[in-house]
Amino acid sequence: MDRNFAMEFVRVTEMAALAAARFMGRGDEKQADQAAVDAMRRMMNSIQFDGKVVIGEGERDEAPMLYIGEKVGTGQGPRLDLALDPLEGTTICARGGPNSIAVIAIAEEGKFLHAPDTYMEKIAVGGDARGAIDLDSTPTQNLREIARAKKKRLEDLTVIILDRPRHAELIEEVRRAGCRIWLIGDGDVSAAIATCKPESGVDVLMGTGGAPEGVIAAAALRCVGGDFQGRLKWRNQTEIDRAKTMGVADPNRIFRINELASGNVMFCATGVTTGTFLDGVRFTGGGALTHSVVMRSESGTIRHIEAEHHFDLKPRF
Ligand code: FBP
Repeated sequence: MDRNFAMEFVRVTEMAALAAARFMGRGDEKQADQAAVDAMRRMMNSIQFDGKVVIGEGERDEAPMLYIGEKVGTGQGPRLDLALDPLEGTTICARGGPNSIAVIAIAEEGKFLHAPDTYMEKIAVGGDARGAIDLDSTPTQNLREIARAKKKRLEDLTVIILDRPRHAELIEEVRRAGCRIWLIGDGDVSAAIATCKPESGVDVLMGTGGAPEGVIAAAALRCVGGDFQGRLKWRNQTEIDRAKTMGVADPNRIFRINELASGNVMFCATGVTTGTFLDGVRFTGGGALTHSVVMRSESGTIRHIEAEHHFDLKPRF
C-alpha cells in the first residue's frame, strides 16, 4: 500500500472534523454526525483509489452514506478497505465534551474483520503490556498480568471503562483488585489509544463497547505497538445469524489484534473536541486549526499534523 495514501486520508479526517466541530455543544448529535459524514464522503471520493467501506455508519438501509459495502474513491487505483467513523463520540461533540474524533483506518482488501454492528467486549493495553492480556481470564487475572508486565503495583494501574450499567460488576471487580478507574461517558477508540500514551495515565481499557469501534481501535493499536482483544457480544439470535453470513463462524471466539486488523494498516484521526489524544478544532475567524495523527503499522511512524485552514481558499466551515 502506497505510504502516501496516509497523507491523502488525513485530509479526509480533517474535513470531517472541521464540519463536525461547528456543531460542538449544540446538542444535536445527528446534525454533527451528518456534517462529518457528508464532508468525509466528499473528500474521500476525490482520492484516486478503489475503496470499500467495511466498517461504517451501519447497514445500507439505516445509513444513507458511508454504509457498509459502499464503494468510495474514484474507482481507479488500489483496492482498499476502510474502517471509518466520521464522528466517533457523537454525544461528546454535541455536549462539547473531550475526545471526539474523526477517524479512518485503511488496509488492503480483506484485512479488516467484517464486524457486524453489534457490541464487543474489549481489552486494550500499550506496548509495555503486549501479550499480558487474555479475554478468557478474569479481569483480576488480567490486571495482575498487566501490572506485572508494566512493573507496577495493582494500585498504580488506571483502568478506563465506559460508564454504563452493564459494567457494574466489572467496576466492582476492578475496585476490589485495588486499581484506579477512569469512567468515561463515550469514546472508547480514544480510550484504547490512550493506553499507548504514557502521558495519558491510562494503563488498560476494559469493558464492552461498539464492535465497529473495536476494529478501528485494533487498527490504531497495530500502528502504535499496543495489544487488543475483542469478543463479539450479541443482543439477539438474529445478530448471530447475520454475523454467520458475514463470515463469523464461531460467535464466541476471541479475536486477537491481528485478526481484527491484519497486514499493513494505516490510521488517520483528527480531533473534533480536545482530548487526551488530540487537540480539537479551533476556529480562528477566517479559518481553523486542526490537530491530526497519521500512523502506519509497517513503519511504526506516528506523525502529528497541525494544519492551518484558510476558508477563503477552501470550503467554508
Ligand atoms: P458514537 O460515536 O456512535 O456515538 O459512539 C460512541 C461510543 O461511546 C463508542 O465509543 C462506544 O464504542 C459505543 O458508543 C458504546 O455504545 P453504547 O453507547 O451503546 O454503550
